[in-house]
Amino acid sequence: MSAEQVDYGTYEAALAKSRVLEQELQSNPGKHTLLTGDRPTGRLHIGHFFGSLQNRVRLHRLGVPTYIVIADYQVLTDRDSFENISEYVHQLTIDYLAAGLDPADGKTFIFPHSHVPELNQLLLPFLTLVTNAELDRNPTVKEEIAASGQKRINAGMYTYPVHQAADILFCKGTVVPVGKDQLPHLEITRTIARRFNHRFAKDNPVFPEPQPLLSEAPVILGLDGDQKMSKSRNNAIMLSADEDETARLIKRAKTDSERMITYDPDNRPEVANLLMLLSLSTGRPPEEIAAEIGDGGGGKLKKMLTEALNEYFRPHRTRRKELEQDPAYIRQVLLDGVKAAREEAIKTLDEVRKVMNMML
Ligand code: TRP
Repeated sequence: MSAEQVDYGTYEAALAKSRVLEQELQSNPGKHTLLTGDRPTGRLHIGHFFGSLQNRVRLHRLGVPTYIVIADYQVLTDRDSFENISEYVHQLTIDYLAAGLDPADGKTFIFPHSHVPELNQLLLPFLTLVTNAELDRNPTVKEEIAASGQKRINAGMYTYPVHQAADILFCKGTVVPVGKDQLPHLEITRTIARRFNHRFAKDNPVFPEPQPLLSEAPVILGLDGDQKMSKSRNNAIMLSADEDETARLIKRAKTDSERMITYDPDNRPEVANLLMLLSLSTGRPPEEIAAEIGDGGGGKLKKMLTEALNEYFRPHRTRRKELEQDPAYIRQVLLDGVKAAREEAIKTLDEVRKVMNMML
């Protein structure tokens, strides 16, 4: 193995490159392959929508070929429960489709990880391209381990960045939209691609080095105003929530005792978060909305937010309900996704075996 170390670089450098990549995608969407994924641990909430789903739909509409891996095996890395995996795979798919990802374009594929055996076969050679020390140092794995509260770390968790590399490289993904926390994983993917090419395919590289596309969307806090929105923290509005539920949840949202509404994320995070949600669902700047509410107080802010969110998500929720009535269609979307993913994975695995001198 080469002596080079995994170089995580700086966030600023990643952001600058990501902006160049965005330009490239605008001018030449067909040249790239986008790969992204979620673990099926529940339904999606509006934080997911504004944070990542909306961006995926935008890139999809630009015409970038898109693979979405539903990372079901990876659920097992940090939790005991697996009872609901199949249900969550279907619910995630419904959320994607309702948001506007449409496989009918012939270049959008949604599939569960566990159904693409050839993808998973890349894991074995990839594991030989990183060292234990490198896995030990990966900051995202460290954080995920800390967050999971596990006392004993299973090797699936420890090797997470390596299976994520297989998820991304099986289809020769070139663009991976991610948040800041996923950058170390992506750097390991890039390192694996580089080392694989260097070791086995010097003259004719098999893998591209995928680039992160950093989200510039603001992080949405939960309705408690002090942590990221998350179902497990009970501070989320799910995409599947109805209008009354949305109203109820917003009524309970934390604000502060100052009547005058101002947009001040540092000093008034709870109010600022509600204003940001209003801004995202109306397209108006948060400062302007704050000025309009003025001394209308938290009551007015919440009333406006309830109306704006319910209006914004009305088409999504209607579509969601229709899709829930059609499980056969959801299943077909997944089967089609699996078929396309397997075709790609088989081709890639063949190339991989060939350069590793493992053909019969
Ligand atoms: N690690 C990602 C998460 O926890 C999910 C994921 C799995 C993923 N495989 C991926 C994301 C490949 C991007 C690309 O959110």
